Amino acid sequence: MESHRPFFLFLLLLLPSSSSSSSSSATPNRHRAYPRHLLWSAESLIRDLNLLPGIQELGVGTEADDPSSPGLVERRLDLRILGQSGSEIPVEQLGHHAGYYRLEHTHAAKHLLVGCRMFYFFFESRGRSSDPVVIWLTGGPGCSSELALFYENGPFKIADNMSLIWNDYGWDKVSNIIFVDQPTGTGFSYSTDLRDLRYGEKGVSDDLYDFLQAFFKEHPGFLKNDFYITGESYAGHYIPAAAERIRRGNKEKQGLLLNLKGFAIGNGLTDPAIQYGAYADYALEMGIIGQRAHNSITRIYPVCQLGIKLCGSSGVISCVASLIVCNSIFNAILLLAGDINYYDIRKKCEGSLCYDFSNMEKFLNQESVRDALGVGSRKFVSCSPLVYEAMITDWMKNLEVGIPTLLEDDVKLLVYAGEYDLICNWLGNLRWVNSMEWSGSQIFTKAPFIQFAVRGKEAGILKTHGPLSFLKVHDAGHMVPMDQPETALEMLKRWMKGNLNEEWNITAVAVM
Ligand SMILES: *[C@@H]1O[C@H](CO)[C@@H](O)[C@H](O)[C@H]1NC(C)=O
Ligand SMILES: *[C@@H]1O[C@H](CO)[C@@H](O)[C@H](O)[C@H]1NC(C)=O
Repeated sequence: MESHRPFFLFLLLLLPSSSSSSSSSATPNRHRAYPRHLLWSAESLIRDLNLLPGIQELGVGTEADDPSSPGLVERRLDLRILGQSGSEIPVEQLGHHAGYYRLEHTHAAKHLLVGCRMFYFFFESRGRSSDPVVIWLTGGPGCSSELALFYENGPFKIADNMSLIWNDYGWDKVSNIIFVDQPTGTGFSYSTDLRDLRYGEKGVSDDLYDFLQAFFKEHPGFLKNDFYITGESYAGHYIPAAAERIRRGNKEKQGLLLNLKGFAIGNGLTDPAIQYGAYADYALEMGIIGQRAHNSITRIYPVCQLGIKLCGSSGVISCVASLIVCNSIFNAILLLAGDINYYDIRKKCEGSLCYDFSNMEKFLNQESVRDALGVGSRKFVSCSPLVYEAMITDWMKNLEVGIPTLLEDDVKLLVYAGEYDLICNWLGNLRWVNSMEWSGSQIFTKAPFIQFAVRGKEAGILKTHGPLSFLKVHDAGHMVPMDQPETALEMLKRWMKGNLNEEWNITAVAVM
């Protein structure tokens, strides 16, 4: 427990001691194969964590729970939002939706129980319906995309009095945007079968692919729009995996052709071997640790690097071992850093979550909101420790390996990072992007940084060549759209249009 601190690549959440009441209801027959006491405690733990709704809750059914309901059940939302939408489209005509998709390739799908459902929000663009379709994935692993919806780039924010207020910099201003709770067990997504937990990127990306197929069947009018995958943090794993999965699906004509144009990773974890090597350097450069600490912490790195190599693309035990070793680098830095917020080193870590996101849970647990969303009495879990634990052998996998093929296919990649984030810092991200081998790598690596300006002011520094771009965002931590909403929206808009360097300054900028 000591050496493996369960920090979410998005949120620190202390694992609840799993000694919660085991006085739960009778064991259902379907689980006969397992020892009963194990099953009981597992079930009560899981019920707490949302994966398995309690038996008594099955009756509370939402329309999505009906086995005869279609695979995708979506409802239109009519949320009261204060302020100006800033759109020419009348508010009542702006399409806001929430839905549940019944995942097909799951154990739960095989019995006629509630099944395995993926929850999502879909907001049609405040601009034009021809705007690109964007999907956002929050990391964790196990953290809900509603964190981004309400605190970063969604159409609205939650006021302290639980009113919703239009977000002037919501990404729905320039895109039709989907926020999905995944993997199974995250947010409002759930399964009745424990075996539907996902342990790696194959399962995660297959589910996402199935979801997107169902989504576009429901919304065929958007199929011709450009399509982009975006997200943050541990989604540095999910995003490249999803892009690869879609590329394969398209090549093999497995379903509807998805018009994938690009993918963007914000403060992500993509290539752990390189990124874990950057922690000490970043911490030294930012004055979090001194030279002596740097020297001693750097000595751990070769072991971490070797562990990651042994983990490779298919390891199990070695992946957990390398995670423990590599995280000792991070933990050593934290020990010296005191109570800093490792998502934003300018701040202190307040409470166990480092940020206060309590309004979101308050909002989502209101009766009227639950009714509107169609989630019944299902518990909302902002970050699921169970999903996190399930993905433990996935953590050290290198997701950079599939990216060059996508670049050669001219699928764009934007890697961006807020400069004050420690946990997925810009330095580690720049290093893996620079060392990636593809046909344009020599030019990209040598390319100078140029200013990324928003309304005439330098908002970051940018490096770009062909389909690949890297942006270091000023005055931002881990959650760039929360800290720099206008810059983040400009970034998305320009990147999708293919002119990230539209407003730039010829002066090359020195870095490092
Ligand atoms: C709730 O807060 C918002 C923003 O501060 C304010 O505009 C609104 O009037 C408040 N609503 C009520 C009912 O107090
Ligand atoms: C370019 O950047 C330099 C240095 O930051 C600044 O002095 C100059 O005004 C900028 N030029 C334009 C056209 O923005």
